[in-house]
Amino acid sequence: MKFSSLVQRIGGDGSDAWLIHYAALAARERGEDAIILSVGDPDLATPAAVVARAVEALHAGDTHYTAVRGRLALRTAIAQQHYQRCGQLVDPEQVVVLSGAQNALMVALLCLSETGDEVLSLDPMYPTYPATLETSGARVIRVPLDPQHGFRFDLEALRRAITPRSRVLTFATPGNPTGLILSERDLAGIATIAREHDLWIVADEVYAGLAPGGRVPSLARELPDRVVTIGSLSKSHAMCGWRLGWMVGPRELIDHSENLVLCMLYGLPGFIQEAAVTALAMAAEAEQRARHYCDRRAALMFEHLRGVPGVTVLMPEAGMFMLLDVRGTGLQGRAFAEGLFREQQVSVIPGDAFGAQTLGFVRVGFATDEALIIEACRRMRLYCEALAATRLR
Ligand SMILES: Cc1ncc(COP(=O)(O)O)c(C=O)c1O
Repeated sequence: MKFSSLVQRIGGDGSDAWLIHYAALAARERGEDAIILSVGDPDLATPAAVVARAVEALHAGDTHYTAVRGRLALRTAIAQQHYQRCGQLVDPEQVVVLSGAQNALMVALLCLSETGDEVLSLDPMYPTYPATLETSGARVIRVPLDPQHGFRFDLEALRRAITPRSRVLTFATPGNPTGLILSERDLAGIATIAREHDLWIVADEVYAGLAPGGRVPSLARELPDRVVTIGSLSKSHAMCGWRLGWMVGPRELIDHSENLVLCMLYGLPGFIQEAAVTALAMAAEAEQRARHYCDRRAALMFEHLRGVPGVTVLMPEAGMFMLLDVRGTGLQGRAFAEGLFREQQVSVIPGDAFGAQTLGFVRVGFATDEALIIEACRRMRLYCEALAATRLR
């Protein structure tokens, strides 16, 4: 049977990124002692008040179709949070409620780009990006960030990547896998280029709540006609499974997005939207809890990886991941990750899942139990010591 060309675009390397993760999940289901550090789903419970509100709404019969754009109360709460975070006053009509930041990225890119266009994205990038950005038929152009400079934003690399076909620039800030935040200065350079080349900017701020003060520098106020801001409750509120996210942008884009949502999602469950209103009302408290949780675990992991032979830790500025440079073990990221899982049953993501800049790295998630972090670091040390011993022989 014949399939559309889309299946090639969505079936690429991005879907291989999770193979070790799936193997670890299967091992754990078989009762084996696998430690999973390959995913960004915090080992934290959704705040009780949020769960209670969803249950209450369910009991009250909130199980019918809902407004396609999202309920006004929720869009109003998102608009208020957007103002606090980005300093841009927006009308609730400039907000559409979507099924997580992942869905928001897809909706934005389908409304902004098409075959013949180029979508620029900072590399290393989150593994779902390439397929998501190419679903529309556009091509992804990777803007390489150099590991020698700690993957810091590189304005000249962005300039070199621009062509007459460039249409959209996407980035995550804080980034995944780097955990780095784009500075005011980085954004000023991006703004200049966006104006010069008439680019849309899609800012994925799914980790913004975990950044110091719960916010990151943003261009939304300065460039209201070209900036699309994406957010969700997944990371800030430990609500990954609720699938609630959003997009904030110019009114016309949101109108088009609503049309897409009409034929894609047909609105999100009412009880989840009600719970989301409660979640946003307690955002400051929830974000502080998530920040404290992540910062503590990042420090713990850093401390326990100190002196592991061949491994250098790249500390994140925010988020729930860190990159480990494993080139000193003599292995590239994929061989390291496969060996680590085979020998010690610890799953991490090989750097190649994020692009060519991270071939010598692995990404480790630390949003998990503290005892597990310590045990995982112990196993990584054993693995690396064994690698070092083999090299000496
Ligand atoms: C950079 C980035 N964007 C988007 C997502 C998806 O988030 P959500 O659960 O809101 O769809 C993730 C999830 O890990 C991510 O790391």
